[in-house]
Amino acid sequence: MGQPTPARSADWWRSGVIYQVYVRSFADGDGDGTGDLAGVRAKLPYLAALGVDALWFTPWYLSPMKDGGYDVADYRAVDPAFGTLAEAEKLIAEARELGIRTIVDIVPNHVSDQHPWFRAALAGGPERELFHFRPGRGPHGELPPNDWRSEFGGPAWTRLPDGDWYLHLFAPEQPDLNWEHPAVRQEHEDILRFWFERGVAGVRIDSAALLVKDPALPDFTEGVDPHPYVDRDELHDVYRSWRAVADEYGGIFVGEVWLPDTERFARYLRPDELHTAFNFSFMTCPWDADGLRAAIDTTLAEHAPVGAPATWVLCNHDVTRTVTRYGRADTGFDFATKTFGVPSDPALGTRRARAAALLSLALPGAVYVYQGEELGLPEADIPLDRIEDPMHARSGGVDPGRDGCRVPLPWAADEPYAGFGSRTEPWLPQPAGWGAYAADLQAADPGSMLALYRAAIRLRSVFGDGPLSWLPAPDGVLAFDRGGVAVVVNLSGESVSLPSYRRVLLSSVPLDSDGRLPSDAAVWLRRS
Ligand code: GLC
Repeated sequence: MGQPTPARSADWWRSGVIYQVYVRSFADGDGDGTGDLAGVRAKLPYLAALGVDALWFTPWYLSPMKDGGYDVADYRAVDPAFGTLAEAEKLIAEARELGIRTIVDIVPNHVSDQHPWFRAALAGGPERELFHFRPGRGPHGELPPNDWRSEFGGPAWTRLPDGDWYLHLFAPEQPDLNWEHPAVRQEHEDILRFWFERGVAGVRIDSAALLVKDPALPDFTEGVDPHPYVDRDELHDVYRSWRAVADEYGGIFVGEVWLPDTERFARYLRPDELHTAFNFSFMTCPWDADGLRAAIDTTLAEHAPVGAPATWVLCNHDVTRTVTRYGRADTGFDFATKTFGVPSDPALGTRRARAAALLSLALPGAVYVYQGEELGLPEADIPLDRIEDPMHARSGGVDPGRDGCRVPLPWAADEPYAGFGSRTEPWLPQPAGWGAYAADLQAADPGSMLALYRAAIRLRSVFGDGPLSWLPAPDGVLAFDRGGVAVVVNLSGESVSLPSYRRVLLSSVPLDSDGRLPSDAAVWLRRS
């Protein structure tokens, strides 16, 4: 390895590039149709060449896979479809040898209905207290205990043959834990230790703002404060004790905190709580200069008082892929309005995604890249009979679900299943023509999305740790300076002239013949 970049120091998480691995769809090492840890290990050189500082693995634990592994049956075991615990330990160590840290994903809000605790609870044991079991309402208890809705659609309660109901904010196979119970708290601190002991550098916290419920489990009234299960103050105690555990190991947290209120969001990032949280306001923002500038300003302003670095995210395993979203008429993202058949212009979307990559990789903070984003993969249409995501069925078939962004990656254009590694049809089908996005083709093409990501990640240390200062720019154009480098992103419909500069460092498309920056493009300019 060459000189470590600043992001590879102890502060890696403040400014690093973190690559999200959805193991099931990354690379198939044993050929059985499902991605696995052997597949990831084989691709570590690719990830090192991309230049990423860390890998965030979506859950790799033992799971019935009713929600892609977010239904965990045993936190201390790797699912056999993915490999073994020993293999995970090897992977963590091998990645570290290449300067790449590992972040695991902990899902504290719920477990799988196959978790030993829930099985014991079903058998009528005292483990019921670890969950939210309640009698129903109505003369015969035939109505759920309250009116809460599952995040996936439908009621948040399921009735058992013995008449009691249990709470699940997600699928019925994901019963919610009772965070009032000390054993639940103790268990999670032990799980954190278990993984930190195995060398992981960080933990992503799933559904981090949902754990604590109002013990009275009241009906939900729109606008009521505090909310009965979102962002309750008691959560901060949980994260303070987690932070003490992480500090013993020098580990870091990234929270999945979906909250519109920026002041409430920032509370999770106080110095004795989480180190970072995903920036969903930036991720869901339409391709619009004023909107993005406001999202950037708000992000920086909300993080500053607590001293936490921002994160920049364009997509993940839950949302429509960037290329497809930016090619639509409505370029924002909203779970509530997802439907089938929204037209998208792939060329336009790709062009904007290239510009967005240069924007996000230039901003102060850490950047998350979701596997396949660096290949410019579009959202895939999954045949109805192959959709696995519970969001689809629970929405009554209205929501296409999240499988379209979870399609097995194309590695080699001329190999079966685009080189994913399977000898048999992969767990999700790849669309026709998937091989055209293959990493091997893109590695050989200087104009590819992969080449752009590699160049941008290699170069982004030019920005240093400096703050961002906005430069004057015409309507529809974002322009700022960081560390003597000007970043210009043109979201207007026409070419624009550039501020004076010494040299073009990188651009998402070639400049016009008269040196202007075309529409839907971005450039990094060395000024001094
Ligand atoms: C988070 C995950 C998502 C999962 C849900 C329930 O939002 O990102 O994939 O379905 O939590 O665990």
